[in-house]
Amino acid sequence: MFTHQDLSELQANSLKMQNWIRQQTFSPEMDKKLRRFSSWEVASLILKINQSTFRGRLASDPTLPAGLVEEDGRQRWYTLEEVNELRRKMKVNRQSMMPERPAGKRAVRCAIANFKGGAGKSTVALHFAHAAALDGYRVLAVDFDPQATLSHSMGLTNVSEDHTVWGIMARDLERETNRQNAAAVGAESGTALPQRRIPAAITDMGLGDLRVNDFIKPTAWSTIDIVPSCANAAFVEFASAQYRHMNPEWSFFAAVSRYLDALPDDAYDLIIFDCPPAIGYQSMNAVFAADLLYIPSGPGYWEYDSTTSFIGQLAEALEDLSAGFEQTFPAGKVSLPKVFQDIRFLVTRYEPSNDLHRAMVEAFRKVFGDRLTDNPIEMTRAVEQSSRFLSSIYEIDYRDMTRDTWRRARGSFDLAYDEFKETFLAAWQKLEDEA
Ligand SMILES: Nc1ncnc2c1ncn2[C@@H]1O[C@H](COP(=O)(O)OP(=O)(O)O)[C@@H](O)[C@H]1O
Ligand SMILES: [Mg+2]
Repeated sequence: MFTHQDLSELQANSLKMQNWIRQQTFSPEMDKKLRRFSSWEVASLILKINQSTFRGRLASDPTLPAGLVEEDGRQRWYTLEEVNELRRKMKVNRQSMMPERPAGKRAVRCAIANFKGGAGKSTVALHFAHAAALDGYRVLAVDFDPQATLSHSMGLTNVSEDHTVWGIMARDLERETNRQNAAAVGAESGTALPQRRIPAAITDMGLGDLRVNDFIKPTAWSTIDIVPSCANAAFVEFASAQYRHMNPEWSFFAAVSRYLDALPDDAYDLIIFDCPPAIGYQSMNAVFAADLLYIPSGPGYWEYDSTTSFIGQLAEALEDLSAGFEQTFPAGKVSLPKVFQDIRFLVTRYEPSNDLHRAMVEAFRKVFGDRLTDNPIEMTRAVEQSSRFLSSIYEIDYRDMTRDTWRRARGSFDLAYDEFKETFLAAWQKLEDEA
């Protein structure tokens, strides 16, 4: 017979081996590095200008970054920093190359969410983050999924749960409870309201002392940061239920929203949330903080089925929150019921030659109408392969595969990103000025 003690012993053994196993499984230099981009990519795919125009500019302006010429080729290769410098310094047809950003607004926030594992959430989140960074935007990714696929893909493997969304939530519980207690003391109603207490187990963790930036880690992409996750953060689902019990008036679902509100408005342009495959405390935080809901779904019948039940359950959960917290929800930047600027469905892992897939996309179109994006993301070997190296198609060097194969896989994400960009720009415009 076995008890929790046996489980603890098994875990202690496992922990001893953890680092060794990690070293054996991952490549020895786990430090992720971003490659350079060729002048062909920079001109045609990134800045979207004529290659000869690009060469002309470089020849006539010695202050522009020159990139690196590799021994075997004629092309110049640029780092992301150099690409961004080119973007800042160059004008084409008197037009700035800087990406569009509505003035005076905070970053726009997008949750990539669905119930189903394997829907392509993390793949979409990773590729949209990379596409946006190549487009000149400054991106913050927030990994809400303790499976931490996005964190691993962005090179973060040694993460403690204190520095995940779980930490943000526990910190928020402490801060919100203190705020409520202070308000109760300050109330002039004569009868002082009871003080809520948070157990030392939480306050002793010192999360209250953490600053906003303590949760944010840099990645190999200089314009992408991440709030990472890790397996231990799965604990949040369990602990949060107890936390709610300690303080039922704690608006647990708004913790991340409050956290992001504390960032300077112009720190980032786009904040992307990768959600766990379940509705729970973490995913409710993602959804609640989001301006935009992007729902990826595979093209099969079962995926259609689970996407349908996902939106049903999400609707119920949001309605419950609205009813339950109407009276107690603190006034501030967010209010109830939760309002999204837009909701879009995106079909992923689509095979254009597959009759069933085509029929399913038509069904999606009938049901969701304009809420379905025009460009599904195609299933490609190139993306499957690059994900095995924990990389996006944007990160993989096109010389590592047939250029057409790479081009086609990238093209599919480019189209989906262009549509995503249109959507987030429209949502961004609609955000109320908060300055
Ligand atoms: N467009 C695609 N082409 C090929 N493989 C894909 C594509 N999108 C996702 N995959 C693969 O499907 C699997 C599940 O995708 P993932 O993004 O991790 O789903 P989720 O985050 O929803 O659980 C991964 O192995 C991923 O590499
Ligand atoms: Mg995932």
